[in-house]
Amino acid sequence: MRFNKLLLIFFIFSVGTRVSAQTWVVPDDQKGVVASFKFTPDMQKQGEQIYVKNCQSCHGQMGKDNWAKLTPPPGDLSKEKAQVQTDGELFYRITAGKVPMPEFRNILAEDDRWWVIAYIRSFNPKYVQPNPVAKAAFTGRIVTLAMQYSDPMKKIVVSATEQLKEGQTGPAAGVEVMLYVKRYFGSMQVGDIKTTNAKGEVMFEFPADLPGNKDGFVEVTARVNDPKSVMKTTPANAALAIGAKTDKPSLTDTRAWWSVRSQAPIWILLTYTLSVIIVWGFILYIVYSIMKIRKLSKG
Ligand code: HEC
Repeated sequence: MRFNKLLLIFFIFSVGTRVSAQTWVVPDDQKGVVASFKFTPDMQKQGEQIYVKNCQSCHGQMGKDNWAKLTPPPGDLSKEKAQVQTDGELFYRITAGKVPMPEFRNILAEDDRWWVIAYIRSFNPKYVQPNPVAKAAFTGRIVTLAMQYSDPMKKIVVSATEQLKEGQTGPAAGVEVMLYVKRYFGSMQVGDIKTTNAKGEVMFEFPADLPGNKDGFVEVTARVNDPKSVMKTTPANAALAIGAKTDKPSLTDTRAWWSVRSQAPIWILLTYTLSVIIVWGFILYIVYSIMKIRKLSKG
């Protein structure tokens, strides 16, 4: 018994120290980062919509202190703990995330993240926005992908074009391309990463047995592999009729435990209805008996 208690105390202590040991450091060069535009009421409104969709489930409604009970606590972003931070610190935390908070780097565009900050700041009457700093012109590669299915070759051809100096476009060679297909849950990569040739092209073979929808359509996406985000890239999407035709009933089409009521297994419906009838019958029987006893006692 005593040993158990000791163990419990030790457990709580070790979990406690582990959680508090996770610090969320913002790099020094990120603290002074500011928006490249002045926040407007319109942006705050946009930011509110983004907040409701992406943040409210954990951080709760602004100013209501009704955040989700997570560890570490997300907290109400209208409160001092968040508001004393610089815009750069907020921007970094939203961009980088920290378990359980998702990394919003690829979920929200840069402007979206600033609009959320504009919204968060609208709850702080003392906030004065630092002067916006115009972003330096982007000097990296700006690459756009397009996708086509080549019937004779039975291959997906992805071609990459990039913007050249004189406002022209040309083939983008040496760009790493990844291919994904949409599945029930998320997407699945097909084949390996491939690098575009001098014509800016890569080809992907497609497994013939890959299941599509009932007409054999598969949703395919080609993306540039750019883990360090040094390029600006636009993916290509297409619904191609290259999958095997499948006609899977959805989860609620068949009778199953987890299904909607109209599709629940018949024996569950019967058992439920029967037990309701029996219980009510019993109650009515008791009421009837009591009334009979009263009648007898009066008579
Ligand atoms: C899955 C839950 C979750 C979601 C969704 C989420 N957050 Fe968080 N957030 C957290 C948690 C938990 C923390 C606390 C992390 C810590 O203190 O270590 C946090 C911390 C923060 C902080 C730092 C606050 C502080 O007091 O230092 C900011 C800023 C923030 N979140 C903004 C956002 C924004 C903006 C969104 C939506 C775009 C968002 N979060 C979405 C869970 C979430």
